[in-house]
Amino acid sequence: MKKFLVFEGIDGSGKTTISKKLYEELRRRGIECVLTREPFDENIRTCIDSFLKREADPLSVAFLFMADRIEHSRIIQEWLDMGKVVISDRYEDSTYAYQGAELEGRIDAPIEFLKRVVHSHIIHPDRVYIIDIDPETGLKRSDKEGSFKTFEKVELLRKVRKNYLELAQDERYMILDGRKSIDEILNICINDILGEEG
Ligand code: ADP
Ligand code: TYD
Repeated sequence: MKKFLVFEGIDGSGKTTISKKLYEELRRRGIECVLTREPFDENIRTCIDSFLKREADPLSVAFLFMADRIEHSRIIQEWLDMGKVVISDRYEDSTYAYQGAELEGRIDAPIEFLKRVVHSHIIHPDRVYIIDIDPETGLKRSDKEGSFKTFEKVELLRKVRKNYLELAQDERYMILDGRKSIDEILNICINDILGEEG
């Protein structure tokens, strides 16, 4: 059984909803698990918010996300060592997809750069579910524009979505159609994890 599971996707794709339901369902079946998310550390979360508000250099923001993840990774390893299944709402691919998009034109080959910095210092998931949805639907669902104008946000999320789909190169990734119902998506995940009818 896969032990370290991650949900990825653009804003409003359904990560938080599905990861919570999966957590509840696995617990209902007597499987010990932990539900976690990124940004993980509340202090770094506050710091990232403040950097974003004052439109800091995206490279600084990228390092904050990665610092948070290195510490998160150590705690996830402890949970795994205790025999728990860990479900994380966002992890490393969020940085590759989002900061990869934000750093375009700022540095060369940003995704490769970000991977080089952090890849060997963190543990990696057994399964990454990418919930794929178009940015318009995602934004409508999450109903928040953040500090961006909607048009800019849609354009950014288009690049983020493309990055996610390009990142999904090996068998650890599973792309899920975010237009399916919450229950359909949940069942696909449960069948994948438990290898039986959900
Ligand atoms: P994310 O964590 O990816 O930003 P959320 O899980 O917060 O997304 O979902 C955003 C909104 O979309 C919530 O109101 C949620 O109920 C709804 N939603 C999530 N998944 C689906 C789905 N597959 N179909 C329809 N609505 C969904
Ligand atoms: P989150 O609270 O998960 O928002 P949502 O549920 O709407 O997806 O994430 C907040 C924002 O942080 C989101 O726009 C994605 C961004 N983010 C990055 O840009 N890089 C990262 O490494 C992570 C973990 C998140």
